[in-house]
Amino acid sequence: MSTICWIALLSAFGWHAAEAVFNRPYEIKLQDNGYNLLVAISENIPEDTRIVDRLQEILTEASQALYVATNNRAFCAVVKILIPKSWTKKDEYLPAGTETFEKANIRVDVPNPLYEDNPYVQQKGGCGVEGDYMHLTPKYVVDKDYGQMTWGPYGKTFVHEFGHLRWGLFDEYGFDDPSGESYPHFYRSSTGGVLPTRCSAKVAGYHQNMVTGARCQLNPETGVYEPECRFYPYFSDNQATGSYMFMHFLDNVKGFCHSDPEGDPLSYHNREAPNKQNVMCQGQSTWDIMNKHQDFANGANPPRAVNSTVPRFVLLQESDFVSIVLVLDVSGSMQGEPLQRLIQVSRRFIRSTVSLGTSVGVVTFAVDASIEHPVVSVTSQAVRDGLIASLPTSATGGTCIGCGLQKGVQALEEVGPSQGGILLLITDGEENRDPRISEVIPELVTKSVIVSSIAYSQDADAMLQTLSLQTGGLSFFSGTDESTALDNAFTTTFEEKAGTNGVKILSEDKTISNRETYSNHVYVDNSVGENTTFSVSWLDGQRPRVTLGTPHGLMITEGDPLYDVTSDTITIEIPGIATPGKWVYNITNNTPNDQDVTVIVTSNAVNDTVPIKVTAQVSAVSLNYSSTQPTALTIFASVRKGYLPVIGAVVKASIEKPGGEVEEIMLLDNGAGTDVTTNDGIYSRCFFNFSKDGRYGVSVKGDNSQGGAGYIVINHGRRRGMRSGVLPLDPASGFTSGDDVQKEPLEPFQRMTTGGVCQVQGIPSGGISGQDMLPPSRVDDLVVVEVSYANATVTLSWTALGDDFDQGGPAHHVETRYSRHFDQLADDFYGQALVNQSQVLQGSLTSLPEPGSAMTIVILVPDRGHNVTFVFAVRMCDEADNCGDPSNIVTANLEYIPDPEPVYTNDTLTWVIVGSVIGVVVLVAAALFISCKFCRSKSAKSATQPSANDNPAYNHTV
Ligand SMILES: *[C@@H]1O[C@H](CO)[C@@H](O)[C@H](O)[C@H]1NC(C)=O
Ligand SMILES: *[C@@H]1O[C@H](CO)[C@@H](O)[C@H](O)[C@H]1NC(C)=O
Ligand SMILES: *[C@@H]1O[C@H](CO)[C@@H](O)[C@H](O)[C@H]1NC(C)=O
Ligand SMILES: *[C@@H]1O[C@H](CO)[C@@H](O)[C@H](O)[C@H]1NC(C)=O
Repeated sequence: MSTICWIALLSAFGWHAAEAVFNRPYEIKLQDNGYNLLVAISENIPEDTRIVDRLQEILTEASQALYVATNNRAFCAVVKILIPKSWTKKDEYLPAGTETFEKANIRVDVPNPLYEDNPYVQQKGGCGVEGDYMHLTPKYVVDKDYGQMTWGPYGKTFVHEFGHLRWGLFDEYGFDDPSGESYPHFYRSSTGGVLPTRCSAKVAGYHQNMVTGARCQLNPETGVYEPECRFYPYFSDNQATGSYMFMHFLDNVKGFCHSDPEGDPLSYHNREAPNKQNVMCQGQSTWDIMNKHQDFANGANPPRAVNSTVPRFVLLQESDFVSIVLVLDVSGSMQGEPLQRLIQVSRRFIRSTVSLGTSVGVVTFAVDASIEHPVVSVTSQAVRDGLIASLPTSATGGTCIGCGLQKGVQALEEVGPSQGGILLLITDGEENRDPRISEVIPELVTKSVIVSSIAYSQDADAMLQTLSLQTGGLSFFSGTDESTALDNAFTTTFEEKAGTNGVKILSEDKTISNRETYSNHVYVDNSVGENTTFSVSWLDGQRPRVTLGTPHGLMITEGDPLYDVTSDTITIEIPGIATPGKWVYNITNNTPNDQDVTVIVTSNAVNDTVPIKVTAQVSAVSLNYSSTQPTALTIFASVRKGYLPVIGAVVKASIEKPGGEVEEIMLLDNGAGTDVTTNDGIYSRCFFNFSKDGRYGVSVKGDNSQGGAGYIVINHGRRRGMRSGVLPLDPASGFTSGDDVQKEPLEPFQRMTTGGVCQVQGIPSGGISGQDMLPPSRVDDLVVVEVSYANATVTLSWTALGDDFDQGGPAHHVETRYSRHFDQLADDFYGQALVNQSQVLQGSLTSLPEPGSAMTIVILVPDRGHNVTFVFAVRMCDEADNCGDPSNIVTANLEYIPDPEPVYTNDTLTWVIVGSVIGVVVLVAAALFISCKFCRSKSAKSATQPSANDNPAYNHTV
């Protein structure tokens, strides 16, 4: 796991991101060789029952292909298909329970504009880390001829994507993504010659310029083929049997590449190809990675003959309304400020967050529980007022969390079936009365009730995260001395289920000194604006005075009809659509003492505009340092407008630590260190500065106050198609010209969200950082920038990493090793020659730049001969000699003599039938629209001198 924050080559967490909410997906399990999967159709898709029929056909084909590809170890046993609530009700559709669109493993939704109808998987984690979801479009699903002609048989295409989704595999072909990520289509083999990036090396074919149709030419400047050069497979008699992550569509390809020397040589892994699989997984084969997955590790799910691989399909339909019961702790420890804040946040939730038609109830618990307000549908302001009036005012007694949960279920059942209902549980203490949480979980699971839990203090019961995990809910942490985390948890819980178009623009807790005025501002962007609400709450003292200035300079203050005052909150709701731009506000503390205020600004998407949304997630809900290798928490934030990645935004995570200290870190979308993919709109970073045991709550802010953010747009007029996800049969259909890709700037925007909570145990005294236990991350973007035959030099470049993973100060030194043979370096990095400082003509091995910056060294190689190949790899180390794993391996070929190209005599031009027309397409040169920092190719590039030995070895047909 290259990129990840884990030390050893082990890892297990999900790479995920949903359009609206980052979410823990429906849990896939492999039991008795059978998978259970959730497929969901988006609310955005107009009713078309052919989608449901085709999904069943596709999954049936996929199940059979999967069974063969895993050597009889896995197939799809049960597939749930979730149908949107807007579609016609049918008797055969069962009501959904905890299943939601956001949790689906496979989603059918409107196209991602970058990828159109290409099936793809969103993958945000490293090697072996499961993907978030597979995205299929209605056109792909329904239009069988088109789908099959473009990407090959449906069942096999599904298995390729399932490799990303389930086992965290990567593509074994070269590609150029519109985001700027790129892996080479050809490479310099260490044994000489230029070869196509492929697995296995037995896949036969030829190369050709996809634009001109002519044979590719070695570029004397770069030593490799022109960017438009592609590998075209032979479609008949191609004997290679692997790999699914390469050209799954070839008839004979039935399995994954493996590294067993005794196994089928026709699917033997090619570890030298500089594809994403080799780079991210350190040269391991796809089958090796699958074998380490819990599905197959230690002989799990051994091969078994099954009577039928046809899945059992269960059709579900979303329910029309959302039911949510607040289950509030009113035990003694809540008395005072904690209760006051809780009530304030609950009130705001009922008044503003909950949309019309939602069903809401209120339950409280202490030594026992009671229904304070039955579940009612919110149809009017009067209903909201009634719910608010039922909120508790005092707290006393012990803590029976199980009682509260049971009462919550009862409240749901009083108005209908409880399944799919949400209990939002807030507690600050440990349970000390029966029934316990663990006794109630089975009932909750059976009844499909979702529990989202908020640990409202460090002392809250440790079972809360487990409770939420097992019932498919979310878990949060909020200290009792702030309201924003609590408020974020309420909103996220609602949005996760209701999928609203509401966004939180700002939430802040602020202490204002006596008689002082606090001034701040907030940007409202034009993707939102409807019913924009500013609310200012305080806990005690006289009410503050709020003045709000619109972008036009109008002032709204006390006395204005929009200025609504209650006992502890001032609300200003802008009717209609708020003017986009900078809204300024002043809050004046009128008391002679300090005053704590909470400011929250929310808004809604305008009409059908897709709003910019920020969602966040942590990689684990618990970490135990005494039982595992030192690891870090990865924090992910997705910043998107629909499926379009928003790049260049300032994204910061605040981590609230036990003791109340808050630490802020910047999340990055630069494809280095923790971040797996450049410019995918998923910003990530490691966090490991754990000071002591306890809960670490994470909130995330996405900001474009300074401008600079934008999203990628593609000029549809000139484009043919776009590569991502699965490889099309026609290599030319996957590409667009760099000219067609642009960054569209976005106006200033702000967003705020919560990333959840992680419970940490086993922290040594002095904290993790005090020990210098953590190495720099692994380098996974080493490239050869230049080779000079005349000077006998090789220039290497990569992104510098930190003293601890991808942060802290600069690392201490870099260890660079090389060999004449790929296998030697791959198998025995430590046994190979070390580059010492005297061989470094430019750059330094010991004086390293800040993490995140580009690092370049020019190495004088010991000899060059006539045609010499060197392979290099590096690793970065800290003062305590903790080192990252060796990087990806790159090849540099020092040779002379630009020879004329061999004459093209192949029969292969006759092959035109399969691919259809080749349009005007050129490679995405990546560089055009993004700053250089982002465009760094992760690929191994090759020499600058042309080859005398253009090896057409792959041109064989066997
Ligand atoms: C498989 O088929 C055989 C013979 O028809 C039958 O006896 C057996 O019970 C079946 N097994 C399963 C798991 O359905
Ligand atoms: C905005 O408020 C109006 C009036 O209360 C309401 O009818 C409308 O549905 C609201 N819009 C949204 C997106 O909440
Ligand atoms: C806020 O206070 C500053 C300083 O007194 C003043 O210049 C500004 O106009 C005020 N803005 C609003 C919106 O009241
Ligand atoms: C929203 O839709 C209404 C009715 O279709 C239209 O009159 C209005 O201009 C739209 N508003 C925006 C901001 O597009």
